[in-house]
Amino acid sequence: EAYLPMDLKSLIRDIPDFPKPGIVFRDITPLLRHPEGLRYTVDLLAQTCKQAGLTPDYVVGIESRGFIFGPPLAYQLGAGFIPVRKPGKLPSAVHTIEYELEYGMDCLEVHQDAFDSGCRILIADDLIATGGTAAATAKLVQKIGCELVGFSFIIELRDLQGRQKLPDAPIVTLVEY
Ligand code: PRP
Ligand code: HPA
Repeated sequence: EAYLPMDLKSLIRDIPDFPKPGIVFRDITPLLRHPEGLRYTVDLLAQTCKQAGLTPDYVVGIESRGFIFGPPLAYQLGAGFIPVRKPGKLPSAVHTIEYELEYGMDCLEVHQDAFDSGCRILIADDLIATGGTAAATAKLVQKIGCELVGFSFIIELRDLQGRQKLPDAPIVTLVEY
């Protein structure tokens, strides 16, 4: 587990004008396909969470890219993984998570019976932009009486001030733009 530090930004690719003109998309696929980069990212995420005292019962990961780092993070923290999915994908009874997009609303779902009462939850995603997705997930977790221990993201887009939308809990991020 002792490595030389890696420059994760050098493994994140900037794609101008995706998905819309004027947006610079931070593409993590080069990082994912890099064996040492992938391992380093997961290990650093887990180590940083542990150092911040984040000891969840479950990591809650948001479809799609929260399914990439959420499960290996949960594995390393000795936690379980709970998927938050796009509508219509989960087979049993769901809670619906509504959130605002730039224009309009969108929604996500999670199984109602996934959370034991009072369980400790860490919300994980690849990236925080406006914070809308993570904030809505946090609201649901708190509404159903779980303890939100914190958030983890690989990338934070600082200019969008997403962290201001999040409730007061520790936030772990590895790379900032
Ligand atoms: C991206 C990203 C986060 C969210 C962040 O997902 O993976 O989930 O946007 O944006 P926010 O902070 O403004 O809410 P996207 O909606 O592109 O879906 P995907 O993971 O399926 O590609
Ligand atoms: N990169 C990747 N995912 C994103 C971005 C971005 O710049 N903004 C919102 N989701």
